[in-house]
Amino acid sequence: MTATMSKVKIGIVGSRFQADCVAAAAKAVPDEAEVVAVESPTKGHAADFAKRHSIPRSYMDHRELLGDPNVEMIWIAAPNRLHAPIAIDAAKAGKHVVCEKPLCLTLEEADAMIDACRKAGVLLLYAEALFFAPKYVKAKQMADEGAFGRIHLVKQGEKHSGPHSDWFWDVAQSGGGAVMDLGCHGVAFCWWFLGKPKIKSVYSHMATQAHKERTQGEDEAITIVEFEDGAVGVVESSWNRPGGMDDCIEVFGDKGQTYADLLMGNALPTYSEVGFGYAVEKAATTRGWTYPVFEEHWNYGFPQEMRHFARCVRGTETPVSDGEAGRIVQEVLYAAYASAGLGRKVMLPFRPKGIAKPIDLWRAPPQ
Ligand SMILES: NC(=O)c1ccc[n+]([C@@H]2O[C@H](COP(=O)([O-])OP(=O)(O)OC[C@H]3O[C@@H](n4cnc5c(N)ncnc54)[C@H](O)[C@@H]3O)[C@@H](O)[C@H]2O)c1
Repeated sequence: MTATMSKVKIGIVGSRFQADCVAAAAKAVPDEAEVVAVESPTKGHAADFAKRHSIPRSYMDHRELLGDPNVEMIWIAAPNRLHAPIAIDAAKAGKHVVCEKPLCLTLEEADAMIDACRKAGVLLLYAEALFFAPKYVKAKQMADEGAFGRIHLVKQGEKHSGPHSDWFWDVAQSGGGAVMDLGCHGVAFCWWFLGKPKIKSVYSHMATQAHKERTQGEDEAITIVEFEDGAVGVVESSWNRPGGMDDCIEVFGDKGQTYADLLMGNALPTYSEVGFGYAVEKAATTRGWTYPVFEEHWNYGFPQEMRHFARCVRGTETPVSDGEAGRIVQEVLYAAYASAGLGRKVMLPFRPKGIAKPIDLWRAPPQ
């Protein structure tokens, strides 16, 4: 049987924002993947989601989903604190696992997820879609051809007006603020772009600038990641930028540079006095000047990521983003919070034990 002859059968955990992207991504690669079930604990949500996306089965407990023999791989699109327990249960049930970012809350959880999946002989895939975003993939192809010479600086920024669901703002459920939520993308991006080098140190400045009433988490941060050959990654994370999602990179080498704006750069500069249906993720209005994006999921790389993960399950491609990648990002997140607390850079390896959630390292850094 060839890869294209059998679709990978997916069960989605969660039924809201990212779950919709996952379902749409599967529909975009119908020869490779198919969503056969969805699970979400809120009454009616999974059933409504299943109806909306023509998914045959829905459940209200992830253990029921894991007991479904039709499901080969689960895709965890639930709040961060649930990633590890659900992934470990899935491994025990013999299901492959895709986990949305960030991998989990703690490094102990990352270890346990990786161990459980390895022991069960199932894949643990880390859904970092920026590795598949076509514009960023093109930038990396040029870099790998040598277009920019030796790259010494990679910047990534992800900024918007703040998350859509309450749990992101509750650090007990999210593990931290904008760095956990958005910085994890930039850290992964810089590391991947530079060819996955060892990370030497991390420095981060964090603050809660605009949302002190709503969260104990940081809503604004700049994180500097130093790699072993001296190249530097700069990651900007913000929950304080109205006007819709902003995701940009800049790459600098001794022979050239490139700039890419994932959303506004792929949009139609538009003026409308009356407005229209939808412009871009987290844009509050469609009146006045806006940047409506087209093929939003494709620009993010969601269908391309789905296709790659399906092929990994069929054994025709090797994962470019797995649990180990998620664990590397997680260690940088730990170091970033500790650095912000200490007011200095933190050297890696950095594996303090017994931390309940990354943001605790900001509030009470190890001395
Ligand atoms: N790759 C990306 O670009 C991207 C974008 C958005 C979110 N995410 C990640 O995806 C995950 C989900 O985020 P979201 O934006 O969809 O959040 P959301 O609040 O929109 O949806 C969360 C879903 O999880 C469900 N849920 C809660 N408890 C559950 C449980 N015990 N079992 C199963 N489901 C449960 C909720 O009912 C809801 O359907 C987060 O980890 C987030 O960081 C990734």
